[in-house]
Amino acid sequence: MIIGFIGFGEVSRNLVNRISSPEITFITSTENRSPETIERVKKSNIKVLDTFSQVAASSDILISATSPKNALSVAGDYGKLAKGVYLDLNNISPDTTLEISKHVDNLIDGAIIGKISSSNPVLYLSGRGASDLLFLNDFIETKIISDKVGDVSRLKLLRSIYTKTLSVLLIEALETAGEYGLEDEFFDILTLTEGENFREKSLSRISGTRKNFKRKSEELNEIIEYFDQNELIMVKAALKKLNL
Ligand SMILES: NC(=O)c1ccc[n+]([C@@H]2O[C@H](COP(=O)([O-])OP(=O)(O)OC[C@H]3O[C@@H](n4cnc5c(N)ncnc54)[C@H](OP(=O)(O)O)[C@@H]3O)[C@@H](O)[C@H]2O)c1
Repeated sequence: MIIGFIGFGEVSRNLVNRISSPEITFITSTENRSPETIERVKKSNIKVLDTFSQVAASSDILISATSPKNALSVAGDYGKLAKGVYLDLNNISPDTTLEISKHVDNLIDGAIIGKISSSNPVLYLSGRGASDLLFLNDFIETKIISDKVGDVSRLKLLRSIYTKTLSVLLIEALETAGEYGLEDEFFDILTLTEGENFREKSLSRISGTRKNFKRKSEELNEIIEYFDQNELIMVKAALKKLNL
């Protein structure tokens, strides 16, 4: 089996390391790529073809792991050349996934939940051919959601309703606790019910949200726009708080 990559960054490099089987050959191209990517490809020791078009046409599974911004144009350039399945792993909205499906015959909507470099990322898949990729479960925990492209992207956005709104709520609760000099006690009392790592997880969420507040605002806006038939009072409040 041949697995081809369009985009050879952290995701693709980690997948090659995880999926080690004598029956699988990995291919990519370094056509027009940066020195960092060329170096990463060299170190991974995988087969390099001259062009991404050749990669697309030669792969049984073509994986697009580039960037949210480039996902659609990559699908436009190579989607129709893919003779096998086309697995999109970019962090994109359900609308972009549906746009991509216009350029790709055998699209599988995919998402990696958790950092790819962590010990336990989970691969979520939806689409008609998703069951063909279940063998990946031998290498990375793999779950099939449905046979509908768009369901995984939607699920990712639903997850964000919770995680991104909660991060803003945590900021507010901690700020309030700080005004009474009870920050440590705030974490201690919540750890009793929320689990051992509550403090570390919360501080990491809070710092990520504060550092990237512009991007987080955009992501909250994206949720509000996509689910415009739903009221989403809490998400709107989180957006308001983030923009104060
Ligand atoms: N990292 C994670 O844990 C994680 C988890 C979930 C989802 N994702 C998603 O997965 C995707 C890839 O993430 P990553 O962390 O691997 O990104 P990354 O490390 O930034 O790597 C992106 C790779 O894509 C290449 N690329 C960009 N545009 C391209 C194009 N038009 N044609 C061919 N190659 C192109 C880049 O090459 P150059 O260096 O030449 O630009 C680079 O090799 C993103 O959409 C991200 O949101 C990542």
